[in-house]
Amino acid sequence: MFNRRQHLTAIALAVLGTGLAQAQDTVKIGVILPMTGQQASTGRQIDAAIKLWVAQNGKKVAGKTIEVIVKDDGSIPDATRRLAQELVVNDKVVALAGFGITPSAMATAPIATQSKTPMVVMAAATSSITEASPYIVRTSFTLPQAAVALAEWSNKNGIKKVVSLVADYGPGFDAEKFFTNQVLLNSGQVMDKLRTPLRAPDFAPVLQKVRDLKPDALFVFLPSGQGAAFMKQFGERGLDKAGIRLIATGDVTDDDQLNDIGDVALGVVNAHHYSAAHPSAMNKKFVADFQAANKFRPNFMAVSGYDGMRVIYKALEASKGQGGDALLAGMKGQIFESPRGMVLIDAQTRDVVHDMYIRKVERKDGQLWNIEFDAVKGMKDPGKAK
Ligand code: PHB
Repeated sequence: MFNRRQHLTAIALAVLGTGLAQAQDTVKIGVILPMTGQQASTGRQIDAAIKLWVAQNGKKVAGKTIEVIVKDDGSIPDATRRLAQELVVNDKVVALAGFGITPSAMATAPIATQSKTPMVVMAAATSSITEASPYIVRTSFTLPQAAVALAEWSNKNGIKKVVSLVADYGPGFDAEKFFTNQVLLNSGQVMDKLRTPLRAPDFAPVLQKVRDLKPDALFVFLPSGQGAAFMKQFGERGLDKAGIRLIATGDVTDDDQLNDIGDVALGVVNAHHYSAAHPSAMNKKFVADFQAANKFRPNFMAVSGYDGMRVIYKALEASKGQGGDALLAGMKGQIFESPRGMVLIDAQTRDVVHDMYIRKVERKDGQLWNIEFDAVKGMKDPGKAK
């Protein structure tokens, strides 16, 4: 017979044992997104895509139950880092994911490194992010991919004199540098390089400047969520009628906002890795299922969230539910069909390799879409070519 003290110890051990068994049966993924603030559409899109992935693929992987924990960082990098720390230390997540803007991803990179926690970047797109930690894997895209693909198209289509306009932070610097360098390499002319603040941008002064300079084309990168305000002002100030062609990264003709932008978007040529109009069977099903669940169209953020979950699930299968280096190894080198087309996670750079499509905004069945008409196939990040 147990005495009272032994009995209590046994209960405590049993409770502890159940707790451990539960902990080992559950694998947690910590997702940090801007659900509020200026980048909230990114959070809404990626959160919806993660939920769709789980609804379609279930919660069991390698015999474990997946638990996704979503935290809102409001796009404040200090909050991103603090939430990542809590998710790693308190919740013992096996992977971190999300990261709406570059500063949030950069702020979290040291935590991924110190704790050996794989960190899947589903939104932020500055080239150097994957170099900030050996535990970072990216499923979004890089601005140099979009900028170089578009500069090659513009050169072949008679655009010689350009002005660039970008958001004044990491991805904007990449877009500006890689677009304008490619224009110069093609013997074109860069008339000016303009920047607007990430928070509360005012487009009036830069648009006036562009009007005065009269380039063949204005090249624009703004982060997802700012495209509609910019495009409306571009139209209101009559730049479209002044013979200045607008070309952009696909962040500006964002599927999340495209129908709100309206006619001023028609004919805008842009480069990106995902269009909701991508004509594959897999994408048609993805868009239909996403819209049925959410009543809004998936954009490029959604597809990156969806693919990020695929990368995590398959890596967990390979690692038998283990985290750390085993999970990271399972992420490297994955090659698969995504709603965007074929995707490779380059084992050396941990960055995404995919097609960069050249698209034109067109009206079809009463709605606006980015219609693909050309592509740079299997494009690596030009920012990595040293
Ligand atoms: C970024 O901060 O890296 C970023 C955010 C939104 C985009 C692209 C890049 O659309």
